[in-house]
Amino acid sequence: MILVAGSANLDFVIRAHHIPAPGETVLGQAFKTYPGGKGANQAVACAKAGGAATRMLLALGNDPYAEPLRASLMAANVALYEVLAPDIQTGCAFICVADNADNAITVAPGANLCLHSHHLPDLTGFNYLLMQLEIELATVTAYAHSAKARGVKVVLNAAPAQPMPAELLADVDVLIVNEGELAALVPYPVSIVTNLAQIAVPCVVVTLGQRGCVARLGNNFFVQPAFDVIAVDTTGAGDTFSGVLVAALSQGNAINLAMQRASAAAALACTAHGAQSSIPAAEEVSAFLAQHAQPIAADEAALRAYCGLS
Ligand code: RIB
Repeated sequence: MILVAGSANLDFVIRAHHIPAPGETVLGQAFKTYPGGKGANQAVACAKAGGAATRMLLALGNDPYAEPLRASLMAANVALYEVLAPDIQTGCAFICVADNADNAITVAPGANLCLHSHHLPDLTGFNYLLMQLEIELATVTAYAHSAKARGVKVVLNAAPAQPMPAELLADVDVLIVNEGELAALVPYPVSIVTNLAQIAVPCVVVTLGQRGCVARLGNNFFVQPAFDVIAVDTTGAGDTFSGVLVAALSQGNAINLAMQRASAAAALACTAHGAQSSIPAAEEVSAFLAQHAQPIAADEAALRAYCGLS
């Protein structure tokens, strides 16, 4: 069983031709809300991946923003440990999605910051704990420490990027970062492979957007080129990757197979709008992989070169 502890946000989304530069105003299209938040997105992705029962520890305000978040998690079969923060607004995110599918996100964490160490449930029956950095760092550190002490594998998606205490990294079994988040963790960032060697975590997975992803497990490296799709919205693609990766690992899959499945799910998530609303079901991922499973040798060679592996 997987426990996801983290944020839930209502996403306020406007599509526009491009993301405004500082001081610029752009006229966008219709405004919509979607269930989001890195924690909740990853919980939905874990649950939809199938094979792993998923629960989520989250904090919500007592306001109309909370209900769509609860409903989306429950529709995906995520059981909830809910902390009610009555005087604080449910987390919100303001997102601009550009015509090229890129996004810019600002988060008002609100109730998410009300999760504290004493809220962690009894970990009996859980084999994985998945967290992100949209709740208090002290809370993440405390949960990681308790989980490690109970023999529960700790997976941290270190997003959004911030400096992390060594005591937290010491309890992490699998770290998932993008290229910028990886660079933020090392004093003198160089090539990806050199940066990876400096992180004292047994398994580190780096997502590289349209290039694909790379992992270091011990001293071994694995690469997975990205799958080619027509992207309309990249919001939540990284969360889909993290959730599906953990679901696959929790079922005993090897890291390369978990990366392949997570990459396929993340690619599919880019083809639809919204965060949780774009996360594919396990059957869709399997059907997609049946058609696209063979890595193209040239893509793999280019990815290895990009990472500094050849
Ligand atoms: O990773 C995407 C998510 O980041 C959005 O759903 C938004 O809520 C922010 O947490």
